Order: sequence, then C-alpha cells, then structure tokens
Amino acid sequence: MNKVLPSLLASDFSKLGEEIKTMEEAGADIFHLDIMDGQFVPNISYGLPVTEAISKASSIPLDVHLMTLNPDQFIDEFKDMGVAMLSFHIEASDHPHRVVQLIKSKGMKAGIALNPHTPVSAVQHLLGDVDFILIMTVNPGFGGQSFIEEGLVKIGELNTIRTEKGLSFDIEVDGGINDETASLCKAEGANLLVSGSFLFKAEDKKATIEELRK
Ligand code: DX5
Ligand code: ZN
Repeated sequence: MNKVLPSLLASDFSKLGEEIKTMEEAGADIFHLDIMDGQFVPNISYGLPVTEAISKASSIPLDVHLMTLNPDQFIDEFKDMGVAMLSFHIEASDHPHRVVQLIKSKGMKAGIALNPHTPVSAVQHLLGDVDFILIMTVNPGFGGQSFIEEGLVKIGELNTIRTEKGLSFDIEVDGGINDETASLCKAEGANLLVSGSFLFKAEDKKATIEELRK
C-alpha cells in the first residue's frame, strides 16, 4: 500500500505544531524526520529534543532518517520517543547488519538508506533482514533539490529482487518527489513516498497527498 510521508525539514520550524496538525488533517500517513550531523552530510538540521517535541505533537507514526555517522548511538532514545521507523545510511556504518538487528530488537522498523551513487548490490545481503530500503533521489543534506533519475533504476532492481526472492521489504523514495516523479517511482515499485518542498508548498495539501498516494 502506498503511503505519503511529509518531510518536516520543509516545514516552518517557527510553527512546527501547526504544520504537524495541518499535515495530519490533510491525511499524511507518517512524518519523515531528517536528522543531520554536519559530518556525514554538509548540513545540520535538528536532533533529539526537537524529535521528542514532534513526537509529542503528532498522532501519526514517525520515520527517522539518520544522515549521521555512528547511527547506532541513539537507538534507545529514538525508541523511547516512540519512533516507528528508523533508517541509517549504508555509507555511514561499518556493521550495518548489527545496526539493523539492534533497531529491530527495540521494536522499530529498520531501514537502510542509499546515496545516489551507491549501488543496490551494497545491500544485497541485507535485504532479508531490513523492513525497508530508502532510495535517495537527491544528495542528502538539503530539501528542494531536483530528482536524480538514476534512482528509478535502483527502485526497479530492488523490486525485481524482492519478487524473485519472495521478500517483503518496503521501498521508500526521498528527494525531489512531486506528482510526476512520484508516479515514476511508484511504477518501478516504490510504495513509501517522502515529499518535502513540493507538499509543503502545495495550496491544497489534502488533494496533493491523495495524488501522491494513488
Ligand atoms: C534530504 C532529505 C529529504 C528532504 C526531501 O537530505 O533526506 O527528506 O527533506 O525534501 P524535498 O522533497 O524537498 O526534496
Ligand atoms: Zn530524508
């Protein structure tokens, strides 16, 4: 089933509570939270206290996308905040299998994110363990960038492997998602659509969410 995940990075942080409410009323399925450390990516977004505030203000599940080094550092904290889905970058971990098991052992869904240059083969031996794979269709660090088409090939490859091996992980896509790029991603097999600037700028958020989800 397709789900739409507004990326709160595109919200107005000075009125986060209102933004959360508006998106929930418009029918958002899950909130996507981008955590950046200024090390793995050239930007710092927000961290644990803001995540906790979002968790208290929202009534739909949270999907935390770690763009940080040491992704195993705060797993317990995210669990305690009630985070439902937690993903980290394959490029940021020496022991991704262990991190996946750790996340799952805390009752959260575990995902692995792939930068635009990282091939699907980098996670081929983890596909039976993860709950989802996050395909980045922009370079991580900033919202509002243009969709990198090559990501579509990787979504298609993952979809094929999933069918061939009878696996059930979800395919999330993040970066430059609008109504057109979302359709292309869904056609290749993605079912979790993250959208930041396109969705937050939309006049009619309910209709936009419905369009992205269908
Ligand atoms: C980029 C983040 C994305 C970003 C998406 O590093 O991972 O989640 O907020 O924003 P848009 O949809 O504007 O590309
Ligand atoms: Zn993200």
